Amino acid sequence: MGRTLTFKIFRYNPTKDNDQPHIEAYRLEEIPRLNVFSALNMIREQQAPDLMYDFVCRAGICGSCAMMINGRPTLACRTLTSDLPDTIELFPLPFFKLLGDLSVDTGVWFREMGERLESWIHTQKQFDPEAQEERMDNATANKIYESERCIECGCCIAGCATAQVYPDFLGAAGLNRIGRFLFDPRDERGDQEWFELVSTDEGVFGCLGMMACDDVCPKDLPLLEVFAYIRRKVSGMALAK
Ligand code: SF4
Ligand code: SF4
Ligand code: FES
Repeated sequence: MGRTLTFKIFRYNPTKDNDQPHIEAYRLEEIPRLNVFSALNMIREQQAPDLMYDFVCRAGICGSCAMMINGRPTLACRTLTSDLPDTIELFPLPFFKLLGDLSVDTGVWFREMGERLESWIHTQKQFDPEAQEERMDNATANKIYESERCIECGCCIAGCATAQVYPDFLGAAGLNRIGRFLFDPRDERGDQEWFELVSTDEGVFGCLGMMACDDVCPKDLPLLEVFAYIRRKVSGMALAK
């Protein structure tokens, strides 16, 4: 006999007059290989047709279904109910703008972060569509690839104490983005430019280094290595000043 699960879900629709944040409980018979995302689909089909949550890929790729599951920021589509107790509490990610119930807007924050860090290759070279692709050594290409694996789910920001206190803090996702361009030899930004971008309380100096972000990142990005690299670079830049 399978378990009966109780889902305690945060409900609030900010666009509805007189709606108040509250918790609603839904009971569901557990089936084999059930994940939290599929459970939400069943609850929406059978019990709460107006329940709001996000998804696109259902495969841990798009980052849309991130939410707090029993107090931990993670992906609903990658979380099996068999790994959780009978009672499962679901809340929206903190920090990001609440759209309703479990749905938050991570897109605005990620776009602003990308613009703030000028997340593109800065180069004076003219683009030549006929030219051969520039060569890069494997180790460097791998480091860039690892940083590029970020799916912008927002779990690291939701799990970061500094981000909750300082809304302008770049968080692990922002620092990882900096690392991606610092690694890239095609980016011609100089030390001074990088130093101004990174060496602030909103950048690497605001980071407490306890690595909650590393614990919760569902893609296991090598955040520890990226932060260590940025810190070494910033120290070098400070000594050269
Ligand atoms: S190490 Fe801590 S303070 Fe720094 S980004 Fe990660 S969670 Fe935030
Ligand atoms: S660094 Fe990890 S936790 Fe943070 S947004 Fe990217 S994939 Fe999500
Ligand atoms: S639905 Fe895309 S990561 Fe879960």
